[in-house]
Amino acid sequence: MLIAACVVVFLLGFGVAILISSKSKSSKVFSKALSAWLPTRQSQSYHEDTQRTDNDVLLTKAQCEAFPPVSWQKQAYDNVKSILLAEDEAAEKFPCIYATAGYRQNQHRYVFLHSADSSEPRNIRLIANALRTFRPLSHSLGPNTSLLLVHPPTKENHSVEKYRQCFWQILRGLRTCDSESWPAEIPTDVNAAKWMFCFDGAPWFFAAMTPAHEQRQSRHASNFIVAVQPRWVFDHLFRTPEMRRHAVEAVRKLIPFYDTVDISPDLAAYGDEGSTEAHQYYLLDDNETAACPYNDLDAS
Ligand SMILES: *[C@@H]1O[C@H](CO)[C@@H](O)[C@H](O)[C@H]1NC(C)=O
Ligand SMILES: *[C@@H]1O[C@H](CO)[C@@H](O)[C@H](O)[C@H]1NC(C)=O
Ligand SMILES: *[C@@H]1O[C@H](CO)[C@@H](O)[C@H](O)[C@H]1NC(C)=O
Repeated sequence: MLIAACVVVFLLGFGVAILISSKSKSSKVFSKALSAWLPTRQSQSYHEDTQRTDNDVLLTKAQCEAFPPVSWQKQAYDNVKSILLAEDEAAEKFPCIYATAGYRQNQHRYVFLHSADSSEPRNIRLIANALRTFRPLSHSLGPNTSLLLVHPPTKENHSVEKYRQCFWQILRGLRTCDSESWPAEIPTDVNAAKWMFCFDGAPWFFAAMTPAHEQRQSRHASNFIVAVQPRWVFDHLFRTPEMRRHAVEAVRKLIPFYDTVDISPDLAAYGDEGSTEAHQYYLLDDNETAACPYNDLDAS
């Protein structure tokens, strides 16, 4: 589905990162800068996780820009920014014009994970809390909103396949801490045409970007990033067949300039016979369909 292309857009890559120690001088400077944006936490260090509240984890553009330049967070954020704005002189326009608009309009929110292993319980809890906080907030942010889950850099390069496993571990992890029931009208079988991942009682859309994607540049970023959107964003964008056609065309026509591989065979309109969103959240780097590794996300 076109949306997938857009979502991808949201997930821009991040720059190289150097993990700063929480005791470093730059970290203190950063905490000071950040505290200006966190009125409820003014005198506390952002790096002390125990003092973070759920709301604190959704950072704005201004908060990302306040990270010290050497921090991995700032470098990852700068990479996303340069992708979305096509800051590199030679860069083509990022195909997801909605992601670029969302960035400019300050409708994006960012979450920086504790570690590169997103399946760790502390990361899953962080993501779960972020989604619960983001959904009500998203309505006031606007229809080009997106939540970017940003992973720290890894020492070793991972493969596209390894990141795919990590991606699905996040969704499986979210299932274990969802206290709301799955909406009755949405199938739970990942292979069903109308399946969508639900969390906190509502459907979501995901798009993953990784350092391993090369041909599918629209899915490349310097860090592993998962862009998440509440489903209403697409319901709004596609609210008439004419609007859907227009939105899809606007993105699709830019993709061939950006990617060196065909548009993924997995991109389809939601509900199309034979398609499933389970194939669209994480696109492969080559011209092949991405089978979902699980039939049942809850199976052990
Ligand atoms: C969202 O982005 C699109 C694409 O740039 C733009 O046309 C539209 O006006 C934006 N929507 C809002 C409400 O700002
Ligand atoms: C990881 O990939 C980058 C870019 O492709 C390359 O420059 C680097 O040498 C690789 N690192 C390792 C440890 O293989
Ligand atoms: C990509 O795959 C589709 C079928 O899924 C095929 O029609 C198309 O020719 C392929 N493109 C290339 C460049 O191999």
